[in-house]
Order: sequence, then structure tokens, then C-alpha cells
Amino acid sequence: MNTPHITALAHPNIAFIKYWGDRDPRLHIPSSNSVSMNLSTLYTKITLSVEPDTHTDKLVINDIAVTGAKLQRIATFLDHVRRLGECSHYFQIVSHTNFPTGAGIASSAAAFASLSVAASALCDLAMDEASLSRLARLGSGSACRSIPAGFVEWNAGENHLTSYAYSLHPASHWNLYDCIAIIDQSPKTTSSIQGHTLADTSPLQAGRLEDIEQRLKQCKDAIQRRDFDALAAVVEPDSDMMHAVMMTSSPPLFYWLPASLGVMLAVREWRAQGLPACYTLDAGANVHVICTEDYHSQVTERLKQLNGVIDVLSSPPGSSATLIE
Ligand code: PMV
Repeated sequence: MNTPHITALAHPNIAFIKYWGDRDPRLHIPSSNSVSMNLSTLYTKITLSVEPDTHTDKLVINDIAVTGAKLQRIATFLDHVRRLGECSHYFQIVSHTNFPTGAGIASSAAAFASLSVAASALCDLAMDEASLSRLARLGSGSACRSIPAGFVEWNAGENHLTSYAYSLHPASHWNLYDCIAIIDQSPKTTSSIQGHTLADTSPLQAGRLEDIEQRLKQCKDAIQRRDFDALAAVVEPDSDMMHAVMMTSSPPLFYWLPASLGVMLAVREWRAQGLPACYTLDAGANVHVICTEDYHSQVTERLKQLNGVIDVLSSPPGSSATLIE
């Protein structure tokens, strides 16, 4: 007899206006809205199958059986789905990710978005996009932005019901590329979940949040008008501000490596010389270099020449999280 199973796929997303700090850490209700773009060539695919006659979930990531804290985090998330769906099954979770995980490329976003789609389907929960986004947020805040398609805004909201993400524009709206300069493939030592709890210990967090409404507007207007210069003018400072908060929190968090700074300075110089590109970094050393389609080959080639860049992954905007089998 075949055990019931289901496969879902979701893309990671890169934030143009960052999420850093929670109003409610338990539900991952953030301190502000954020804006991102899904990345189509990168994905996490999760196959969930019912494990008959057991009372534990089993996790396999990229062909390796995983236990401990990672399994516990996923089992806790699945417990919530089981309660919602009045579903008593335990699962085998087989996850495949085609990019480095835990290294500032939003692997937890892709994983929890994919898991939300698969688990809700297997537990017969008829969820619309907003409900799936709320559910994914419980696994990892930014996962809620990997549920809708293309260019996405996460409404911070004030409670579980009002905090979810929606699409601002489909992937076809603007063929931007994210060329990710891989500098370090190892998982970070301080997770984003821990990092969010430190945000308010930085005296700079209040200043970052004070004018975030203005940056959100500038970013959304630039995307709407497909105005690259206007986008670059807000994406870089927003990333720098988040990292300034990280570096001045207590204890301080330094995600950059010397090679990250090398890439950031090079990108600024290229832009001054007329190449439309800008950088942004999540909680990791790898540098996301955003440019338009016409320039992505050139940006990729230039990045490969820089000191400390091991590889470059590039992606145009991606679609929504989806069931594939
Ligand atoms: O969803 P989390 O807890 O992995 O937090 C994501 C935090 C950043 O990637 C640094 C910023 C963002 O908005 O994606």
C-alpha cells in the first residue's frame, strides 16, 4: 500500500527592506513591514509522507538524516498544523535544497514556506494564500514572504491574523536579478531567530525604525516604476542600517567578512562608473548584488574576479510556493 505523500516547492526571498526585530517573538510579529523578491532558480522541495505506527517525525535534509534542534523546530511546527487539522499522523519530511543553507540566503524561509504548503495539504486544511503566509511565519518570520509570488510586502500587523505577506507585483513585472556572491558556505553561528531578540538592545534600532515607513514607500514606488536608481538608493542604506543595528546590539553580531566588504565597495564603484547594481546582505557574509537582466552576466563575471568570492548564484524573480505532486 502506498503511504499518502505530497511534495511542495518554495523559493527563498531577498529582502529589499529588511525585517529585523520582533514585536512578538513567539508569533514572529515584526517591528515593521518589509519588502522582498522571490528567487526563482533557488528552491527547497519538501516531500511529506505519512509515517504509519510511529509517534515521532523523521527529517532527511539533502539525503542526510537529521535529529536534534532542527528536527525539534520542525516537529513543533508540525504539531501546530496537526492541531489545526485535527490530524494524528506523524511524517517523514524529505527536504532538498539547491543552495547553501543557514548562510544568509533565506533557506529557512524557503523550507517553512514549502513545509506549510505540504503539511496543510496533507492535513486537509483548505488554506488561502494569506492563511498559508500566516502559518509559514510561525516557522520562520520571513517564510511568510516566500508564499506569495514575485515582489512581496509583509504587513507587520499587530497579531496573528493581521501579520501576513501579499504580492505587490507578479514575477513578470520587472526582470531584476539577484547575483549572490558566495563568500562563506558554512551555517551562521547566531541564527536570525536569536538575532531578532537582540535588535532592541541596539541604540540604533529606534532610529532604523523611525523612518522605515519612508524607505518602504520609496522602495515600493521604485519597484512600481521599475526605477533601478531609486531602488538602489534605498536598498543599500536599508541593509547597512540593519547591519549597523546588528553590530551595535548586545552582544554584537558581525555577519560580514572582509571579502563581503570588498564586494560592497566594488559594487559602489561599479555603480559610480555607470553599472546599475546595488548590494544587500541578510544575516550572513554572502552579498546579494541586485541588477537588471541586461547586466546580470556582466555583474556575475565581475563578481567572480573579486577576492574571496567562491561562486556566484544568480536568479530572476520567482513565483509563489506551490504543490507539485
Ligand atoms: O525569518 P528570519 O528569522 O530568518 O529573519 C530574516 C532576517 C533577514 O534575512 C536578515 C532580513 C529579512 O528581512 O529577510
